[in-house]
Amino acid sequence: MKPIEVTVTGLDEVEADVLGVAVPEPATTLPAAAVELDSKLDGKLSSLATAGEIKAELDSAALVHVDGAIGAARVAAAGAGLPDRLDGDAIRTAAAAVARQARGFGGTVGWLLDESLPLSASEQARAAVEGIVLGAYDPGQWKTKERNGREIERIALVTGSPDGLDDVAGRAARISAWTTRARDLSNMPPNELTPERLAELAREIAGEVEHLTVETLGLEQTRELGMGAFSAVAQGSKNPAQMIVMRYDPPSPKGDVVLGLVGKAITFDTGGISIKPSEGMEEMKHDMSGGAAVVASMGAIADLGLPVRVLAVVAATENMPDGGAYRPGDILRARNGKTIEVISTDAEGRLVLADALTYAREQGATHILDLATLTGAMVVALGDLYAGVFSNDDEWRDRIVSAGAASGDRVWAMPLDPRYRRMIDSTYADMRNTGRHRMAGAQAGAELLQEFAGEGPWAHLDIAGPAALSHGRGDYLSQKGGTGYGVRLIVELASSFT
Ligand code: BES
Ligand code: MN
Ligand code: ZN
Repeated sequence: MKPIEVTVTGLDEVEADVLGVAVPEPATTLPAAAVELDSKLDGKLSSLATAGEIKAELDSAALVHVDGAIGAARVAAAGAGLPDRLDGDAIRTAAAAVARQARGFGGTVGWLLDESLPLSASEQARAAVEGIVLGAYDPGQWKTKERNGREIERIALVTGSPDGLDDVAGRAARISAWTTRARDLSNMPPNELTPERLAELAREIAGEVEHLTVETLGLEQTRELGMGAFSAVAQGSKNPAQMIVMRYDPPSPKGDVVLGLVGKAITFDTGGISIKPSEGMEEMKHDMSGGAAVVASMGAIADLGLPVRVLAVVAATENMPDGGAYRPGDILRARNGKTIEVISTDAEGRLVLADALTYAREQGATHILDLATLTGAMVVALGDLYAGVFSNDDEWRDRIVSAGAASGDRVWAMPLDPRYRRMIDSTYADMRNTGRHRMAGAQAGAELLQEFAGEGPWAHLDIAGPAALSHGRGDYLSQKGGTGYGVRLIVELASSFT
């Protein structure tokens, strides 16, 4: 894994094809760093600003040619929005706008940090690197024609006080590269990314870093282990299912925590016998995004050498209609002994996660976080911006919300309440796999998962909204498709134990 190279220099040493600078509202008055830059450019920036040609709107960037005054060929003044809303996402979006323009002219994107902005230099550095890498992402990897633009090869951060920024920026570059890795997995077509291919890619990742091992369970083994919920979903597919188990055992872990990461990896969700409408069904290739985030973040955690033990269990299978497929009405017995009446074969994520959660606990996970594109109801509630978190432990939940806020992978707390449990009561079995009457659909899924969470803190992150976009979001994620959601959050969470 080769992250993008990042250098930190002063303005007089910068070498870049374009140098971006953030301009918040009002764009007619340049912020401090841009004023200093402007003095070296004979007022080119300020005359552009006075003419109203620099816009403070996020996602806009006004370009000027530099003609040798500094070591950057061009300067791009990027809109940073309202100053009191200037957060990491504003910088990510501004830097992404510059990076997208830069694809047209060359390999190095510069970004000027500004101490006068209401965001620390290290937060700006981190956000700029993420914005440039994620913003320049091209999902068109399967196009056979020559693609537009060049890959971005280097990032040059520019500041008068570089202390400590090398580390921050280098770390952001690595995390962004692993996020891209998860994004690539999410975007892979379902004929290429089968459960076995995902397992193979997990093994490849383990081969690139230290102290990370992979083991996989096939359908027969999961049956022998009594994983009747996972194997029922898997039984209708020609492409063999895989329960992927990854272990990160660093040489000197701090404390007794074993972070358990559980991922839903339905490599294609047709709905099964409860088949989905055909319109938009192609987007169900992204139904493995939780598993992708888990696999890629295991790589990231090992790459960064974080001193915390981590166990990952990724439930990988297709959900297909077939003569051998499971049916509505089937009653399944999960590994923990509980029985589930199938109402809809399209509520398959909670079934595969049920056995994965039990297994993670058995294998020693003390604190569990599962990530799943679980419900359309979550998308209705929070859209494409926030994932919803459900937990049996308020402290654990708050920690995940904080990791989300710090990392840019936004999380909103959703209620779990014993009084929701009746939604999944079944006449015949311990529970049914869907709620009723379209009521609180995301909670119904979370309630079922809680039955399999075992003893100890557990949280469920329903990432159906932000994991994959049907349309660009108008920020640094300007493309449809997989986003790599979850990698940044998981790394932040794992770092909080160290
Ligand atoms: N993978 C889907 C959820 C989903 C929907 C993800 C839209 C991303 C975008 C999941 O397996 C599913 O089909 N859920 C059903 C549950 C229902 C049958 C209780 C849903 O949300 O409709
Ligand atoms: Mn489904
Ligand atoms: Zn699904």
